[in-house]
Amino acid sequence: MNPDLSLTRPYPFTRLRALLANSKLPDCLEHISLSIGEPKHPMPSFVMKALDENSKLFEKYPATNSAPELREAISAWLFKRYGAKVDPLTEIVTCNGSREALFSFTQALVDRTRDAVVLIPSPFYQIYEGAAYLAGATPVYCPTTVENNFIIDTNAIPEETLKRTQLLFVCSPSNPTGKVLNLEDWANLFELADRYNFVIGSDECYSEIYFDEDNPPVGALQAASQLGRNDFDKIVVFSSLSKRSNVPGMRSGFVAGDAKLIKPYLLYRTYHGCSMPGPIQKASIAAWSDEEHVRENRRLYKEKFQTAVPLMGKTLGVWMPDASFYLWARTPIEDDQEYAKKLYEQKAITVLPGSFLGREINGVNPARGYVRIALVATVEEVKEASKRISEFQL
Ligand SMILES: Cc1ncc(COP(=O)(O)O)c(C=O)c1O
Repeated sequence: MNPDLSLTRPYPFTRLRALLANSKLPDCLEHISLSIGEPKHPMPSFVMKALDENSKLFEKYPATNSAPELREAISAWLFKRYGAKVDPLTEIVTCNGSREALFSFTQALVDRTRDAVVLIPSPFYQIYEGAAYLAGATPVYCPTTVENNFIIDTNAIPEETLKRTQLLFVCSPSNPTGKVLNLEDWANLFELADRYNFVIGSDECYSEIYFDEDNPPVGALQAASQLGRNDFDKIVVFSSLSKRSNVPGMRSGFVAGDAKLIKPYLLYRTYHGCSMPGPIQKASIAAWSDEEHVRENRRLYKEKFQTAVPLMGKTLGVWMPDASFYLWARTPIEDDQEYAKKLYEQKAITVLPGSFLGREINGVNPARGYVRIALVATVEEVKEASKRISEFQL
């Protein structure tokens, strides 16, 4: 087998299961899971209807890059949302959720004949790391901590590393910190990418989960357009319907950006063999073309954050994130795994230890001392969990 497989690390949820394997839930409390970032709000009925009405399309092989109508719907959404003009013919690839795209794009991009580096924020979404290893690259972790306002400090990256860098992953809004990059942050990253000739892979699957209707997160394509970088040189964005439309099981997303990267990536995908089934394409067109259900989704998340932040803040270090559905909460003890275990045993709540999402840099795991709390459960469950956490003493 491919020896690079042995480089991959156990997934955070595998580690969480091992951590809690011998723990017992208290008898008197209902279990509430706030560990997995799986949306729990209902999927829109019109998306379900589109799936039903188009099920005959399962009789046909779908095209590698879907029907043009889906790419046109995505392009129209990108223009409405970001004011970015993205060509549906040359600058958009559809994918089965952003996870497989983050992985497969890395395989298509990395030139393993050179000593390649992939820069990854830490804490981070673990797919970036596995994608780098399996592409034959070395992942190099950049801490995103309270000290650097949860943004990669590019000045701290050694010149020698930047010279080897082929890809930088950025996650904005961030899983797990909820941090959103502003225009100036994007401009700095574009400048660095130009100087060292690397690609920016912008993971934006949480872009539609924000709290201020008048102030949505700035995306990489938007920033590029505003900065006059209309060819999106060295920029690709990964986006998805999973969180926006509560359809994580539908597996629908897209990659958009630099046509010079999109073309060979599409070639790669011909062999990757991951085309989107016809009924899912139709349902995706419906989902990208409607904003009402996304506003309702945001309303529910906002309600949950407004309850959770003040209550959980009694025993944890929490703040309102810029966006996303996560709280990145400072634990009262440094050992976040111990905190998560005790919370499970005493209050029947599962959260994810932060240290599972980070990697040690110079002997320090920047995600230690945090837990990630996904406010995905129902409003009632989040209220109940917040109350229990507000009373939780170690
Ligand atoms: C940061 C981040 N990126 C990408 C994904 C992948 O989502 P999907 O494949 O459903 O689009 C997730 C899923 O939780 C995520 O947290």
